[in-house]
Amino acid sequence: MNSLSDGGDDRKIVTAILVAAGSGERLGAGEPKALVRVGGTTLLEFALRSVFDCERIGEVIVAAPPGKVTEVSRLCQQESDRYAERNQDCSPGALTILAGGATRSESVAVALKAVSDRAHHLLVHDVARPFVTVEVIDRVLDALDAGAAAVIPVRPVTDTIKRVEGDVVVATVDREELRAVQTPQGFQRDVLISAHASGESATDDASLVEMLGIAVTIVDGADEAFKITYPWDLAVAQAFVEHMKTEKN
Ligand code: CTP
Ligand code: MG
Repeated sequence: MNSLSDGGDDRKIVTAILVAAGSGERLGAGEPKALVRVGGTTLLEFALRSVFDCERIGEVIVAAPPGKVTEVSRLCQQESDRYAERNQDCSPGALTILAGGATRSESVAVALKAVSDRAHHLLVHDVARPFVTVEVIDRVLDALDAGAAAVIPVRPVTDTIKRVEGDVVVATVDREELRAVQTPQGFQRDVLISAHASGESATDDASLVEMLGIAVTIVDGADEAFKITYPWDLAVAQAFVEHMKTEKN
């Protein structure tokens, strides 16, 4: 990751907003999802590593669970120091930690207020997708560089999808028309700010952009960017981390 202080000061930067303020109720781990550990490492640290690995990002803003700002700040600083140790020639960028809001949309809105004036492209990434690859982040940023207003990484849907009413199927949906959506989602700065000015809430930021009638571009996501929601997903994460360890050795 590039430092904010690198180079000329009016150089445009990319800011990544990491939303980590959720309580992780469906995971049921007894603490916020960002602080849940896999093999001794928190999901927050894994997500930060993924973001720090992208050298095109110059600033990271983390929306922390309101009661955990100190703990999150400590973990962020630790991860930033580790990055600086590994990459002597490239210091980690500016890091801001603040208390998130009651909903995901509110957490993004709070973080938006702290974005540097120099940011022209904004990424919003869920800490619940801690293993996203730098290739996915690059594809999102490439599309923004090419002029897209908003960009989302997607995967094909592999399950057969039914529309239901109560416990009865009313239709089978053509899955060729469907995509499962991941993060980071990328935006031209003004587009994301306008989308959040509506004050609407949604499970992702692109939905707010769609409400403005602005086109959202898709790029390929990756299996590694899977979302951790339920205990089963955490078991998958554990297996994934083990697998990555054996790959390295
Ligand atoms: N998030 C957030 N602020 C909130 C709610 C969610 O920053 N008030 C973040 C979560 O930390 C997560 C992402 O938004 O990275 C996606 O949310 P989700 O997977 O629903 O996580 P949680 O809200 O933590 O889980 P749950 O809904 O099961 O409580
Ligand atoms: Mg939630």
